[in-house]
Formats: sequence, C-alpha cells, structure tokens
Amino acid sequence: MAVVIDGKEAAASVISAVSEAAASLEKATGVKPGLAVVIVGNDPASHAYVSSKSKMAKQCGFNSVQHSLPEDTTQGDLQTLVSALNADPAIHGILVQLPLPKHLDADPVIQSISPQKDVDGLNTVNAGKIATGDLTSGLISCTPAGAMLLVKRIHGDDLSGLNAVVIGRSNLFGKPMGLLLLAANATVTMAHSKTRDLAGVCRGADILVAAVGRAQMVKADWVKPGATVIDVGINRVPAPDKGEGKTRLVGDVDFTQASAVAGAITPVPGGVGPMTIAMLMANTVIAAHRAAGQTAPNF
Ligand SMILES: NC(=O)c1ccc[n+]([C@@H]2O[C@H](COP(=O)([O-])OP(=O)(O)OC[C@H]3O[C@@H](n4cnc5c(N)ncnc54)[C@H](OP(=O)(O)O)[C@@H]3O)[C@@H](O)[C@H]2O)c1
Repeated sequence: MAVVIDGKEAAASVISAVSEAAASLEKATGVKPGLAVVIVGNDPASHAYVSSKSKMAKQCGFNSVQHSLPEDTTQGDLQTLVSALNADPAIHGILVQLPLPKHLDADPVIQSISPQKDVDGLNTVNAGKIATGDLTSGLISCTPAGAMLLVKRIHGDDLSGLNAVVIGRSNLFGKPMGLLLLAANATVTMAHSKTRDLAGVCRGADILVAAVGRAQMVKADWVKPGATVIDVGINRVPAPDKGEGKTRLVGDVDFTQASAVAGAITPVPGGVGPMTIAMLMANTVIAAHRAAGQTAPNF
C-alpha cells in the first residue's frame, strides 16, 4: 500500500514557519505582513475560500484586509481598488479571488497587480521568472509551489533521473508545475486533452501529477508501481450513501485503486488543497520581507 502524503500536516508546518517569520520580521523592523483579499459578487464557494484565507492570515499574525465588492462592480472600480492596494505600503500581498463575475475581464486585473505583491504568482512577470528558471526573485504560484513541496518530501530536492508526467497544461497549475519539476532536474512530459495514449504516457511516470478536473479519471493501471501520485483535482460528485442529495469531494485519481499500486499518493481532500493556502501565506511573508529590505525565508 502507498504512503499517504499528509497535506494537512505539511501545510501546518509551513504555517508555523510563516508565523515565526512574520513575528521576527515585525520584531526586527516593525513591519507586519499585510494581505488584501478582494472578492467580487456572491458566489458562496468563493466566499468560503476567501474567509478561510483571511482567517489563516490573521492566524499567521498578518494584517488581514478583505474587500467584498458587489456583483455589479465595474472593471474601472476593480482596477481603482487594485491601484490603491498597489500603492498602500501596509499591503504586501494582493489576491483577487477568481473566477470574477462574467462581465469582468480577469486578465487585465491580474496583470495590473504589482509583481512584488502578486502572491498568487499569476502575473506574467512572475510566470516568466519561473519559465526562465529564476525561482528566487519572484513569487511562485501557490498550488504548484505547494504540490512541489509534497514531491520534495518524498524525493528530496533533486529529481535527477526521474520521469515526471503532469496531466493538464493550465497557466494556473499545469504549466508552472511542469517548470518547477524541470527546474528540479526531472524529465518532464506535459500531457493534455490532445495527448495520444494518455494511460501509456502516465505509466512511464515516476512522479504523476493530475490536474484535469475529471473525477477519478486516473486508474490504477495508469500508475507505474511505486510511483508518487500527486492529485490536484477537486471534483464534487454525488454521494447517495451519505443521504439523498449529498455530495463528496474526490480527486482526478481513483484513490482506492491507485493507492494499491503507487509508492506514495496524496488524498483528496487533505492533500494538495491545504498546501495552496499555506503557500499563499508563505508568499505574503516573503513579499513583506523583500519590501522591508530583509532576506526572505525559504519554504
Ligand atoms: N487548491 C487546489 O488544490 C487547486 C488549485 C487549482 C486547481 N485545482 C483543481 O485542479 C484541477 C485542474 O485545474 P486547472 O485550473 O488547471 O483546470 P483547467 O484550466 O480546466 O485545465 C484542465 C487541463 O486538463 C486538460 N484535460 C481536460 N480533459 C482532459 C482529458 N480527458 N485528458 C487529458 N487532459 C485533459 C486540459 O487540456 P487542454 O489544455 O488540452 O484543454 C487542461 O490543460 C481542477 O479540478 C481544479 O479544481 C485545485
């Protein structure tokens, strides 16, 4: 049976290091890390994500600011708020919760966030730094950074000689994850919806990362015996066994079957998910150190 990689425990250790770094920064310089989270509209899932981010920021000892804007917010109003946050020296990290309501265009908003405050790592300046192998001076997108920490817990920092397959090529996750694996010396294949013989490609992976958004798509016979499987997918499926109309979260991997073959595997929930918010806090404390002219901690 595979080792189950405990994302909650790994996230708790990141949060504890972030809290310590925040406390020592404030003691040394008087600077308290500031995170501003912006949400537009009434989507209940987005509100739940935002309130857990704000709560975690407070727990880390940050100045946590939440801006909840109405559904009919204009592009101009949102840009004005981002400009004000860019100019506010008490704010070191800005996160605009996605998706935005349909009448708003997310890309110009994300690109207008100052790269130094882009704690989601989605600005092209930060994405470009990862693409060119600079993993130290920018901010790395939170979910791939968190998934990478879990990979390193199993394999260490150097993935020389290992084959990694990432299923999914989104800007949010798949592309930066492939680049982080490459920077750690893995031999990387990026698979997607046009890949031929996906199961066969996956069977070559020592490290298999699934980020598709299709419930339990990756079956046990896609997994090389002993491989490390990182399941990024979050899918809500009906769970009639829990009662009428009830649902549960599952990943992109058939966890029960695949864990009989894999060497190590992340569960859903409790794997990559908790790492995302932990790395958001890590990016904020890193940004605050840089703004204060201090050496930023590594996570
Ligand atoms: N905090 C977290 O844990 C976290 C964070 C981010 C995302 N997620 C989850 O991760 C999953 C992926 O998110 P995302 O934002 O990267 O999604 P996305 O933008 O929808 O990208 C999905 C990718 O999967 C590929 N794909 C779709 N169907 C496929 C198939 N049948 N075979 C192979 N590849 C296929 C697509 O290929 P094409 O490019 O060819 O269309 C695309 O590259 C979602 O379940 C999301 O909820 C979790």
